[in-house]
Amino acid sequence: MTAKSVLVTGGAGYIGTHTMVELLASGYDVVCLDNFSNSSPEAIKRVEKIAGKRVTTVIGDVRDREVMSRVFKRPIDGVIHFAALKAVGESVARPVDYYGNNVGGTLALLDAMHERKVQRVVFSSSATVYGIPDKLPIAEDAAVRPVNPYGHTKAMVEQILRDWCDARAEHAAVSLRYFNPIGAHPSGAIGEDPHDVPNNLFPFITQVAVGKLDKLTVWGNDWPTLDGTGVRDYLHVMDLARGHVTALEYTFAHTGCATVNLGTGRATSVLQMIAAFEAASGKKIPYVIGPRRTGDIAACWANPSLAQQLLGWQAKQSIEQACADGWRWQQSNPNGYRS
Ligand SMILES: NC(=O)c1ccc[n+]([C@@H]2O[C@H](COP(=O)([O-])OP(=O)(O)OC[C@H]3O[C@@H](n4cnc5c(N)ncnc54)[C@H](O)[C@@H]3O)[C@@H](O)[C@H]2O)c1
Repeated sequence: MTAKSVLVTGGAGYIGTHTMVELLASGYDVVCLDNFSNSSPEAIKRVEKIAGKRVTTVIGDVRDREVMSRVFKRPIDGVIHFAALKAVGESVARPVDYYGNNVGGTLALLDAMHERKVQRVVFSSSATVYGIPDKLPIAEDAAVRPVNPYGHTKAMVEQILRDWCDARAEHAAVSLRYFNPIGAHPSGAIGEDPHDVPNNLFPFITQVAVGKLDKLTVWGNDWPTLDGTGVRDYLHVMDLARGHVTALEYTFAHTGCATVNLGTGRATSVLQMIAAFEAASGKKIPYVIGPRRTGDIAACWANPSLAQQLLGWQAKQSIEQACADGWRWQQSNPNGYRS
């Protein structure tokens, strides 16, 4: 039997690289399409080295119809769609770029898939679609009320995929609402490589630990949480990567549209995360308390039971493991893929 072939858009990015490793390990052929706007070709070389297999790489933009029709000349059985802009603050300043890339890019992808009768897609959504949750943990039937343009792009694409599935009985889509991915592949060869000062807590901590940044600012210690700092659901990126393979397999066995949280169901505060990282790395993380950031929320964690029921997926790795793996990546690559 020939291996199934998967197109991974945005495959050179943080979550894409880890997912490509898992896809190759599961026996899929992988075609990666990336414009390298937030990543580098070196990331794909590392994936190939870890997997001991080749990735077919196409450099280009999902919005470029000529590139897309070239990509789909080869047989593609399913698509995992990561390509997007992802910085919440930037999305407030540059909404048109975000709608154009994230929503426009998905429409161009679905058009190209239609031409070649490719009927399965797994989409990177985000817990950001929930906005400020009414209750915790958050299940998939909670209200979708994004509070920034980035979150709106994710909610819009989810809606587009529901309509796309309603239009044809053969269509299958899974929107995965990720909580907070952290950590790296255990080899330390691939990991998160932010080009600017990191927006997210975990890469900020690892950059402080490696001496690239002086100290961490904790945004608020007066939130209504166990220790006053923000609480999130941190998920090992390898668990998340495995979740994509499971979701893709689901689209091979089912039609219609599913929307599923990928999280651990565990709540961790900023101070708890700092302590876990210090224990895993043996490094002290100096921090100061700053004001709350506008747009931040007190707490957000998943009810992950639908993922278990529908996909048979469950997060397996601990925060401690994620800290150890993320630290290994940062230590061996202090300047990311430019190291
Ligand atoms: N990292 C997170 O915390 C998080 C949380 C929830 C959802 N997501 C979503 O998961 C997906 C992947 O996130 P990530 O953290 O790996 O981000 P990333 O920026 O590391 O990866 C995105 C990749 O897409 C590429 N890309 C962007 N626009 C493109 C375009 N128009 N054409 C081709 N390639 C393009 C970038 O070069 C990059 O390699 C994104 O859709 C993001 O919104 C991420």
